[in-house]
Parts: sequence; C-alpha cells; structure tokens
Amino acid sequence: MEKRTKITVRDLNLYYGENHALKDVNMNIRENCVTAFIGPSGCGKSTFLKTLNRMNDLVDGVRITGEVKLDDEDIYAEGVDTTVLRKRIGMVFQQPNPFPMSIYDNIAYGPRVHGMKDKSKLDAIVEESLRGAAIFDEVKDRLKKSALGLSGGQQQRICIARALAVQPEVLLMDEPTSALDPISTSKIEELMEDLKKKYTVVVVTHNMQQAVRVSDDTAFFLVGEMVEFGDTKTIFSYPKDKRTEDYITGRFG
Ligand SMILES: Nc1ncnc2c1ncn2[C@@H]1O[C@H](COP(=O)(O)OP(=O)(O)OP(=O)(O)O)[C@@H](O)[C@H]1O
Ligand SMILES: [Mg+2]
Repeated sequence: MEKRTKITVRDLNLYYGENHALKDVNMNIRENCVTAFIGPSGCGKSTFLKTLNRMNDLVDGVRITGEVKLDDEDIYAEGVDTTVLRKRIGMVFQQPNPFPMSIYDNIAYGPRVHGMKDKSKLDAIVEESLRGAAIFDEVKDRLKKSALGLSGGQQQRICIARALAVQPEVLLMDEPTSALDPISTSKIEELMEDLKKKYTVVVVTHNMQQAVRVSDDTAFFLVGEMVEFGDTKTIFSYPKDKRTEDYITGRFG
C-alpha cells in the first residue's frame, strides 16, 4: 500500500555561521515507514535530523532557509510553539540519557510537564510506553528504582519509552544503537519494526547493514548534500549515483 507523506522538506539550507552545512535538501518522509540517513562523518546527518523538530534553534548562529512541513503545517512558520512541535516529533540520542530519577518518573516526566496529574492515568501511560519500547517485563518490578541502574541497552529503551509517553507522531533517532552491544542493538532494531506501525521513524546510522535491515527508505548524504534518496532495497542494489555506490560498497567513508 502506498504510504502518505508525513514530512515534506523543500529546498532546505542550513548555515552554521559561514559553514554551509545543508545544501538544497528535498525529501518526502513517508508515514509509518522507517527512513534511514547514511553517509560519512560530518556530512550533515545529525544536523538534518535536528531540522525536523527545530532542535537547531538552540544553536547560536544558525540560519535556515527553505521549508519543512509536518503534514500540511510549516514547522518554521511564525507562531509555531516548539514545545508542542517537539511533543509531536520526539527524539532519541546516541548516548542513552535517562534522567537521574526512577524509571517511573523518567516516563511520567513528559506527561507531567504537559499537565497530567491523575495517578491512575499516569500509571497506565507508564506501562503502555514501557511496553511500546519492549522493556516493560524487564523493569516492571523495579519501577521505583533509578533508571541509571539499568544496562545501556535497557537505558536506551527507557529513553524510547520516555519519548513515546507524550504520544508523538514521529520519532527521530540519532545513531540509537552505536553505543550498544549486538544483543541490545538487535532488540532496538526489532523494536523499530514494531514502532513504525504507529509512528513515523527516522534513524541516523553508520551501520549500513542496519539501514538495510530496518529501513524502508534511505537517504545518502555527502558534505551537506543529499546525493540520493529512495527505496532502501533499490539504493543498496542499484545505486544511481557513483558516489552512493562508492560509499555503500565501502570504497570510501
Ligand atoms: N553546533 C554546531 N556548530 C557549528 N558547526 C556544527 C555544529 N554541529 C555540526 N556542525 C558542523 O556541521 C557539519 C555537519 O555535522 P553533523 O554533526 O550534522 O554531521 P554528521 O553527519 O551527523 O556526522 P557524524 O556521523 O560524525 O555524527 C560538520 O561540518 C560539523 O562540523
Ligand atoms: Mg551525527
């Protein structure tokens, strides 16, 4: 079935001061799909990911031109509330970063910030989010214990659960498994397969096998330019651009 577009990027340019870090990027990110960003270090993957929920707004000296639409809404339009935007588009980082508080409080944090006080509703959200991140069974008997006492792979799933707790529409993940062991990595990869049924998932990865395993669409970046974008199987089997071919066959990068 043809998936509709969830995020539309048109002629996006980003400058860190003099450094032109993203050059005329265009992309349609499909709903309920996993989209992977690949490319060598410094090519702009993280920068581009962060333009999708305006995390770059927090960096001094950034200038952005072009358009990013979530559904039909321009996220850079005047008057957009970035707190609401980041509730709709959640983010998970490379290093698991649970807050120094209990597992329960980590997950309840976002809903509480957004005004939820009802204890039984919070209990339900915590359980549902932990289940959604495939970590509930492992932590259900220690919800009041510190999240910092968990393994790296468990902490990363706590961070995914924390992102799910505010009911996002899109989940951005920046190299979510690069700090994890192979078993935790495969758990997160399986989870992505599951997450895309409810959410739109965008993942940055240095691991090309991972991109092949988890993603529907892949974008290849090179020094700020999006060289090639499309169906993952096609990109990896029949890359159109010589630079994509060189990268995926390991000839450079
Ligand atoms: N906060 C910042 N201020 C200034 N320049 C930055 C900032 N963040 C990134 N850059 C620059 O923008 C370019 C793209 O960086 P980015 O972090 O997006 O690359 P990346 O593809 O995610 O790399 P990696 O694979 O190493 O994570 C680089 O030249 C980098 O030095
Ligand atoms: Mg990066």
